[in-house]
Amino acid sequence: MNDMLLEYIDRMIDQEKDHRVFPVEFNDKTYYVKQDISNRRSSWIKPSPRAAFDYEFYKISFINTQLPVAPVIAGFREHYFVTEGSGKTLTYYSELPAQHPDDDSLQDMVTHIFYIFGKTLGQLHDYGLSHGRPAMRDITYDPDTDKITLLDWENGRRWPELTPQGWDLLIFVHSYLREDNLPISYLYAMMNGYSSARTARDTVLHVKDVLRKHECLFKFCRMLNPLHFVDTEAAVKAYDFMLALKTE
Ligand SMILES: Nc1ncnc2c1ncn2[C@@H]1O[C@H](COP(=O)(O)OP(=O)(O)O)[C@@H](O)[C@H]1O
Ligand SMILES: [Mg+2]
Repeated sequence: MNDMLLEYIDRMIDQEKDHRVFPVEFNDKTYYVKQDISNRRSSWIKPSPRAAFDYEFYKISFINTQLPVAPVIAGFREHYFVTEGSGKTLTYYSELPAQHPDDDSLQDMVTHIFYIFGKTLGQLHDYGLSHGRPAMRDITYDPDTDKITLLDWENGRRWPELTPQGWDLLIFVHSYLREDNLPISYLYAMMNGYSSARTARDTVLHVKDVLRKHECLFKFCRMLNPLHFVDTEAAVKAYDFMLALKTE
């Protein structure tokens, strides 16, 4: 069955040279193909596409031996690997309530999704593992299985003062606060789920310590607020959000 899937992909892949990642429908199921080519985004700060590809393939395989939160690899060839579609992204779900204001049930559903994402991230951290850059567009939810999957495991870089877990938490909070007009309640739902982890409190305290140490940097970002740079504005919001969290 997987051989047929790979042969099907082999026949179509030449037309997908411009897409590093693309979806494939096969036997009524969705799969995603990831190739070892550059996505042309910020290529000068990234390691070579092949190194990133190998790192991600091994990291996904390893993570799934510990905790099933990475996508399921359905097959691979030398220049690509295929994962099973794991649902729509948190970006997609977070926008639903505003798009359908008449449907009250959506807010509860999205609150639930963020809560279980927080729980899943906490579990990963309790295993001593981390994702590297858990941004909203790289986290999916499947309503049929009620399961969160973290995609895109190729990022090994971080702010060296933070533990990998502290970095994950801060990056997610930043990624959430980058989005326009999302209610803060979903982020609190995520933190509620996260706080069920054994290591959560220590991680939050650690992030607070590092942020406080770099107060000057965030003061500088705050001065840039009138210019509305999305990333520095979100950095200031992330700083305020993290420091206001209760840790008693
Ligand atoms: N297994 C999957 N299930 C659902 N969506 C996926 C899957 N793999 C990739 N995607 C979608 O494709 C996008 C790009 O994939 P990703 O692995 O993050 O590549 P990139 O490094 O180019 O960001 C993701 O943000 C997600 O929307
Ligand atoms: Mg990605």
